[in-house]
Amino acid sequence: MRTIESLGDLAGKKVFVRSDFNVPLDEERNITDDGRIRAALPTITRLLNAGAKVIVTAHLGRPKGEPNPKFTLAPVAKRLGELLGREVPLAKDTIGEDAKAKIAELKDGDIVLLENVRYDKRESSKVDAEREELAKEYAALADVFVSDGFGVVHRKQASVYDIAKLLPSAAGELVAKEIAALTKATANPERPYTVILGGSKVSDKLGVIENLLDKADTLLIGGGMAYTFLRAKGFEIGESIVEEDQIHVARGYIEKATAKGVELLLPVDTVVAEKFDKDSPSSVVASNDIPANEMGMDIGPQTADLFAEKIEESKTIVWNGPVGVFEFPQFAEGTKAIAQAMQDAEGFTVIGGGDSAAAVRTLGFDESKFNHISTGGGASLEFLEGKKLPGIAVLED
Ligand code: 3PG
Repeated sequence: MRTIESLGDLAGKKVFVRSDFNVPLDEERNITDDGRIRAALPTITRLLNAGAKVIVTAHLGRPKGEPNPKFTLAPVAKRLGELLGREVPLAKDTIGEDAKAKIAELKDGDIVLLENVRYDKRESSKVDAEREELAKEYAALADVFVSDGFGVVHRKQASVYDIAKLLPSAAGELVAKEIAALTKATANPERPYTVILGGSKVSDKLGVIENLLDKADTLLIGGGMAYTFLRAKGFEIGESIVEEDQIHVARGYIEKATAKGVELLLPVDTVVAEKFDKDSPSSVVASNDIPANEMGMDIGPQTADLFAEKIEESKTIVWNGPVGVFEFPQFAEGTKAIAQAMQDAEGFTVIGGGDSAAAVRTLGFDESKFNHISTGGGASLEFLEGKKLPGIAVLED
C-alpha cells in the first residue's frame, strides 16, 4: 500500500485529505466522542509540518445529497482547531466558490476544512460516471490525495475511491496504522486467537462469524445476539431480543464450530430485567432459565469470569460489540469486565467497531492500554469478514 513517503516533497503542494469525522453529537450539536478527530491529527500535523496546503474533507451523517445545517462540519472545525491549537476555517461548500476562494488563500502549512462531502449526491452515487465526475472536480482542487478516513474505506465513494485514481495518492498515517494492526490480528494471528462478538444483531455479524469459524480458536458471544444463539440451543429466553429468522443460521454456526473444533462459548448466566430501562430491577439467572417475563440485559458474573479467563489465555484477542446494554450503568458490568480483561491481557488486543470503542471510552478505560482501538465501524467489520475494501484496494500498487 502506498504511504505518504511515496508522494515525495509536499512543501507548497495542495493535499486533498479524506478523513472520517463522522462523530456522535448531542442535541445541542456538541461532539460527545472526538476519538475520530484525534485519530486524524498525526496525518494532518505531518502534512502541515511538511509545508503542504492541507485541504481536509469528510462526511458527517447521511444528509441525502443536499446541504442540510443539521449535518454541517462546523462543530468538527471548532474541535479540530482546538486540538491543533490553531483556527481551522470551514468552507461553506465542498467544490463551490467558497471552497475555491479559501483554497486559493492557503499559504504553505495552512489548513482548510471543506463542508460535508455528502451534501452532493454524486459523492455516494451507485453510478460510476456520476462519482467520477465529482471526483474530477475534487482533483482539480489539489495536487495529491491522502486517504485517511479509515471508517469510510469500505465505501466506494467519490472522495474515498474515485479521486485516488485521478491524483497521486497514498494512505495516511491512520489508515496505515489501522491496516497494520487489523492485519496482524487477522491474517496470521498468534494463537490462541480469541474473538469476542457482541452487539444486538446476529444478522449484522453473519460474514464475520462465517470467516472467523475458519480462523479463530475461540469465539465468545455476548450482547443481544447471544439470545438468538441461546434460542438455537432450545433455551427459553423470555422477552430477550431475538432474530427469529436467524435462529437456524445460529444453529448452523454452533454445528460448524463443533465440526471445526472452534470453541464457541455462549453466556452461562445472564443479568435480566423486566423492562428495557436503566432503573428496572434486575437479577442474575442461568442462561437456560430466563423467566418468561424478563429480558437479558448483560452477561452475568460467571460468564464474565469465564470470558476473562479465555482472554487471559490468548495471544491475540479481537473484540467487536458490547456484551450488554452498557449505556445503562447497572448493565455495564459485563462490558467492563471484557474491557478490563483485555486491558490486563498479555496478548495483542484489538477493539473494532464504533460501539465497543465508544464503550471503552465512556466507561473510562485508558485507551493506551489496548494495542489498537479501531476508528472503523462497518469498515473494521468488513475487514474482519476478510473482504477487500475498495478504499484500500485503490491505494495498492
Ligand atoms: C461510520 O460511521 O462507520 C463511517 O463514518 C461510515 O459512515 P456511513 O455508514 O454513513 O457510510
